[in-house]
Amino acid sequence: MALCEKIERPGINEFLYWLEQKTDFFTAPASTRFHGSYAGGLLEHSLNVYDELKRLLAAYPEIEVTEDTVMIASLFHDVCKVNFYATEKRNRKNESGQWESYDAYTIQEKFCFGGHGSKSVYLIQHFMKLEPVEAVAINCHMGAWDGNKDVSSAYEAFPFAWLLHVADEAATYIKEAKEKNT
Ligand SMILES: [Fe+2]
Ligand SMILES: [Fe+2]
Repeated sequence: MALCEKIERPGINEFLYWLEQKTDFFTAPASTRFHGSYAGGLLEHSLNVYDELKRLLAAYPEIEVTEDTVMIASLFHDVCKVNFYATEKRNRKNESGQWESYDAYTIQEKFCFGGHGSKSVYLIQHFMKLEPVEAVAINCHMGAWDGNKDVSSAYEAFPFAWLLHVADEAATYIKEAKEKNT
């Protein structure tokens, strides 16, 4: 929230109010069983992507964007995952061979948009206007994984979009994988 207070885009307050009051953005996991599969995982992942993006921008000073763009693109790229997960009871054997029940995350999509990055763009734009570079970066943050065939042309036109993609993967496969193993 301290970071978000610096964002000057009209509509940011309404967007934050919606995130706080109407969604589980601050408590949702980042996935059901891969990275960040715990309460708060989505928030932590979003902050990790912000940190990784700042590191990448320091390495590529020729890519110039505003601080608002950095925060909006990184913190909200996965906003499509709000109101998306639920928990269900499952059974497993514990260390002493006894069956025990536990809460597991499962997907229970409340708003099937038909896309991942595109859904984030849609949800954000409901509250505040995105700059073209932000919309492209968020829409293409999954790279080729999202089935977006024209992603390389988008990255050529907006190299910042490629940086967001790399920051997302660096957070997932390096930072969060390391945290999981320690
Ligand atoms: Fe994503
Ligand atoms: Fe992500």
